[in-house]
Amino acid sequence: MVSRVLGLLALCSVPLTQAFVIPHDAQALLSSDASVHTLSDVEATSDIETFTRPNWFESTLLARRLLAKSSSGVISTIFPNPPPPNSRSPASVAGLPIGLREYIADCESSLPSELSHSDNGDPTILALRVATTFKNTGAGSNLSLELDWWDHLEEAVPVYPGLPRSPAALPRVTLFGYLEPLPELSAHSAAQLEQCFLASHPDAKVWLPGASRSPHSSFWARMVVTSAYWIGGFGDVQQIGWIDIDEWKGIRPYESVGGVGDGRGWEDVRLPGEKE
Ligand SMILES: *[C@@H]1O[C@H](CO)[C@@H](O)[C@H](O)[C@H]1NC(C)=O
Repeated sequence: MVSRVLGLLALCSVPLTQAFVIPHDAQALLSSDASVHTLSDVEATSDIETFTRPNWFESTLLARRLLAKSSSGVISTIFPNPPPPNSRSPASVAGLPIGLREYIADCESSLPSELSHSDNGDPTILALRVATTFKNTGAGSNLSLELDWWDHLEEAVPVYPGLPRSPAALPRVTLFGYLEPLPELSAHSAAQLEQCFLASHPDAKVWLPGASRSPHSSFWARMVVTSAYWIGGFGDVQQIGWIDIDEWKGIRPYESVGGVGDGRGWEDVRLPGEKE
């Protein structure tokens, strides 16, 4: 109990007394004599005790669901250092990371079997050659992709009785890896991939690879995920840390591959505020 409340306090960067109504049990801890318990302390404590922290596999299912439900995320890449001779970026950013929001989709399962990584959580990306993110990957940068559930604050419920809804309590995951351009696709395979990607990005039709009169040259790529860092929310009720990457890669929508987790898939869990 004590560590849970301290976990909450540690995550509050503003003075609690000004911003929030403090739960009774937290007040007891803040007061000079934490051993004094009243009936209302016990009630507030039992409210908090009803939260159970998901285990790591369940958290990985949530993270994998977050990818499936995301249509964009912030991709961080590193500017080449030294800058290439033709660079338009100031020399002062050489070697620095830049995070830019990009379109992504969970379309690995739409690829033909000989190209597919079998729906293993490698995001599909429509890369524009002119974009800074893909200039940097072209110059050798690896990348990370941040996804979060912060747009769903209105549907979520407060984590603690007496506290307002909190974006900091909502999940986010950062995937690490490298960009792998996909080889030339047959017309049939390209159509399959386009159907999946355009479902969440209808506007991207204009700059699909090979689109006539496209303003920008583009290519299909996948992000090969090599590591993943999860922040489920407040650390006392959610996991925070590195995901077992074999579990990440082994999760499918309705099951997980043999030997991974408890056999469930990402359709068996719900993110905060989602309907059952
Ligand atoms: C990018 O990642 C690959 C594979 O994970 C690694 O071998 C390589 O050294 C990385 N490149 C850079 C520039 O860090």
